[in-house]
Amino acid sequence: CRESTPVRYDPQRECWDIFGYEDVYNVLKDHSTFSSVRPIKGPVLLGSIIGMDPPKHMQMRGIVSKAFTPKSIEELGPRIASIAEELLNAVAHDGTMDLVHDLAVPLPVIVIAELLGIPAQDRRLFKEWSDSIVKGPASGNKEDMHRLYLEREKTRRELDEYFLNVIAERRNRPEDDLVTKLVEAEVNGERLNDMEIVEFCILLLAAGNETTTNLITNAVRRMAEAPALQTRLQDNPALIESFIEEVLRYYPPVLSLSRYATKDVRIGHADIRKGELIIPWIGSANRDESKFDQPDQFIEDRTPNPHMSFGFGNHFCLGAPLARLEAKIALRIIMNRVTNIRFADHFEFKPIRSTFVYGVEELPIL
Ligand code: HEM
Repeated sequence: CRESTPVRYDPQRECWDIFGYEDVYNVLKDHSTFSSVRPIKGPVLLGSIIGMDPPKHMQMRGIVSKAFTPKSIEELGPRIASIAEELLNAVAHDGTMDLVHDLAVPLPVIVIAELLGIPAQDRRLFKEWSDSIVKGPASGNKEDMHRLYLEREKTRRELDEYFLNVIAERRNRPEDDLVTKLVEAEVNGERLNDMEIVEFCILLLAAGNETTTNLITNAVRRMAEAPALQTRLQDNPALIESFIEEVLRYYPPVLSLSRYATKDVRIGHADIRKGELIIPWIGSANRDESKFDQPDQFIEDRTPNPHMSFGFGNHFCLGAPLARLEAKIALRIIMNRVTNIRFADHFEFKPIRSTFVYGVEELPIL
């Protein structure tokens, strides 16, 4: 399909699908032609930087970007390791665990909650909200879509109320956390208003949790499928980094993005009109044979590996260093504890039903 139809119009979803690596790259690179600003703002996310264009995008992104540099993130390593150890210590000692629920879901939620400065007793709520804002519809039919929209609106109201309280507290009593940094930050000499801060907090929740969960899960799934790979990783710990990059390429946690054409534009043979919705498919670009040798083979030491799983251009994932570090630490700890990771008996894959994220619902391992 990618070779014969690299760009196609989908009349049902009323959008242009972009499949080839080069085209996806060019769309993501050119924010003046392919905008991230949505014509209608949804209840979640789209008032945040992910739905902005320059120059506002860069000013706002600059406020949090310091907290996410590889150096700042590296400092979180010991804390991430102790959270992962604690989570694994809490698993029942009957020989099996569900990697998704026992580790891959709670680890990123706790890390983001701590970064923001959310108290431990509120983490449960946090997790429910985080699930609700990224959950896809049960099906594509109108009732399901509408139900999901209402559910998200309710979650959004709860999140607003919760974060507005936290923001008010930090204005009175600053702490060493991200919410305080947001409260104190200035853009062009002006402080952010409360709703701008809320948008940032919700974005971090939505963008950082399920994605990282799926990266960790997809990596362990691959290990369980390939015992020889596990031995190779045990014997050669430095391989873990290129292994994680290949997991990202081969099983991208985010499959597709969206952009809007700001003017009439031609991609390949397709004439796209101003205002039309464009879907660059990361999942397809990552398997493009014109960019990757043997794209359908999983090659754990593939170098270079210019996958686009963290996007590209001005919206390149802010949390990429954090996601990579969480995955590296989680995998090392699992490998130290379980020498031969296997699927539990009678396990059947239940892929998450979504055209947007890629992962499995549960992963019972021995
Ligand atoms: C943006 C993927 C983890 C925060 C993005 C984008 C992708 C992505 C593809 C680009 C969106 C676009 O161009 O429209 C992933 C994947 C992750 C991950 C695959 C895990 C494996 C995280 C984490 C955080 C995070 C852990 C933070 C805690 C963000 C933010 C943006 C973003 C704030 C918006 C950046 C901007 O608009 O400038 N992510 N992400 N992500 N991600 Fe991630």
